[in-house]
Amino acid sequence: MGEKEKDPRKIPREDDKINRELWDKMSFDTQILRAGEDPYPETSHSIRPPIYAAKSYTFTTFEEMLQDRYFYSRTENPTLYALDQKLATLHRGEKAISVASGMAAVHLASMCVLQKRIERVKPEKLKELLPQNNPETIPNIIIHKNLYTGSYRLFTKIYPQMGIDFKRIDMRNIDEVKNAIDEQTKLVYVETPANPTNDIIDIKTCADLIHEVGGKCVVDNTWASPALQRPLELGADLVIESLTKYINGHGDCLGGAVIGTENDIRNIRYFWGETHGPVMSPFNAWLILRGMRTLNMRMERHCSNAMKIARYLNEHPKVREVIYPGLEHHPGHELAKRQMKRFGGMVDFELETEEMSNKFINLLKLIKVGVSLGDTTSLIEFTGLMTGIDLARWERRSMNISKTHFRFSVGLEDPDDLILDFEQALNQL
Ligand SMILES: Cc1ncc(COP(=O)(O)O)c(C=O)c1O
Repeated sequence: MGEKEKDPRKIPREDDKINRELWDKMSFDTQILRAGEDPYPETSHSIRPPIYAAKSYTFTTFEEMLQDRYFYSRTENPTLYALDQKLATLHRGEKAISVASGMAAVHLASMCVLQKRIERVKPEKLKELLPQNNPETIPNIIIHKNLYTGSYRLFTKIYPQMGIDFKRIDMRNIDEVKNAIDEQTKLVYVETPANPTNDIIDIKTCADLIHEVGGKCVVDNTWASPALQRPLELGADLVIESLTKYINGHGDCLGGAVIGTENDIRNIRYFWGETHGPVMSPFNAWLILRGMRTLNMRMERHCSNAMKIARYLNEHPKVREVIYPGLEHHPGHELAKRQMKRFGGMVDFELETEEMSNKFINLLKLIKVGVSLGDTTSLIEFTGLMTGIDLARWERRSMNISKTHFRFSVGLEDPDDLILDFEQALNQL
C-alpha cells in the first residue's frame, strides 16, 4: 500500500481551495458545516456528498492498479470519507475512521493499542509472539469502575479470555491511577463524563501518566462530543465517539468513530477493521453528516436545558440527589470547567424512596422512557432496569446504580415543558 501512488480522490488535491491547514484555522462552527464536504468533482459536483452504494471499485488499466485507489468497501467508501474528514477536523486529529457502532469503535481502538499487528509471519514465529506463551508480557488495561456497560463487559468479560488483564479502579482519584499503572499497562481507558453516573476524570493527567511507561490513553468522548471536549488536545492518543448519540443527534441510526494519528487509524482501517468487518453503511454516513451539521447549536441548547432542569430537580424535596457536573456540589465540577466547554446534556438523579421510583416512570407524560441518549428528544431511563439490566447486583452496587437512580438525556424541547412534566409526576408521588 505504502509504495502505491497516492490517488487524488482519497487525499486533498493540491488545487483544493481549502486544504486541511486552512480548515484548522477556521472556527468550529464553520468546520462543522463544511469540513469534508467539498463537492465531489469526479462525479456530479453535487453540493452534498453522494451516497456511494458500492461494494467494490473497478480498474480500467494496469497503471490504475498501482495507485492507492478505492478498492473494497470494507475498508473505505467515498461517503464515509467525507464523515471521516469532518470528524478528524473537529477533533484536531490527523485521521478518523467511522464504523458501524460506538461499541465497534471501542473494540477497534482498544485492539489497536493492546494487540500487535501481526502479518506475514510463519506459524512458529506467531507462537512466540502470543502473550499466553510469555506470561510476563500479558498486557493490562486500566478502567474506571463506572463505565458504559457494553465497554465494561468487553474489558471485564471478553478481553480476559483473550489474555488481556484489567484493573478496575476509581479513576477520579488520580493516585489510584498512578498506583495501578505498571510496566505491562498498555492502555488507560477514560470515559468522561462517565456513563451512567456522570463521573468526571482528568484526561490530561491520565494521558501524562500512561505516556511515562509508553502506553496509550484512549478517551470515550460520547457524552461530551467534540463541541464540548477535545481529548486529543489534552494529550489523549485516540478518541472514540458513539455517533449514535449527540453527533448524529436525530436518533435514526447507529455509528461510531475513532480519531487519532494517521498511523493508528491506518492500523485500524487496514488490519483490525478490515478483518473484524464492522462497516458503517454509506446511508448511515450520509444521515450522520446531515445530523451533525447542527451539532454545535444543539449542544448549546442541550447544555442550557440540562442546567435548568438540574437546578429545578436539585431544589425538589422528593429528589434526594442530582448528579450533574454543572452543579457546584458535583465533585468533578472544577475539573469539568477546565476540560469541557460546557457541562453536557445528561442529568442523573435519585428519588427519595424505592416506592416513589417504581411509580415515577408511569406518571411521566411528555418525557419518553427508553435507553440511549443524545437525541433531540428527551429520554429518561430507570438505570438499574435498563442500562444496568445485564449486571449482577454486586456490579450495579459497585457502579452506584441504585434502585432509585434515573438517567435523563435532556432533549431540545422547551425546558419549561419538561419541568412541568416532572412537576406533575413528582406531585403525584
Ligand atoms: C459512553 C458510551 N460509549 C459507547 C457506547 C456504545 O455506542 P453504540 O450504542 O453506538 O454502540 C455508548 C452507548 O450508550 C455510550 O454511552
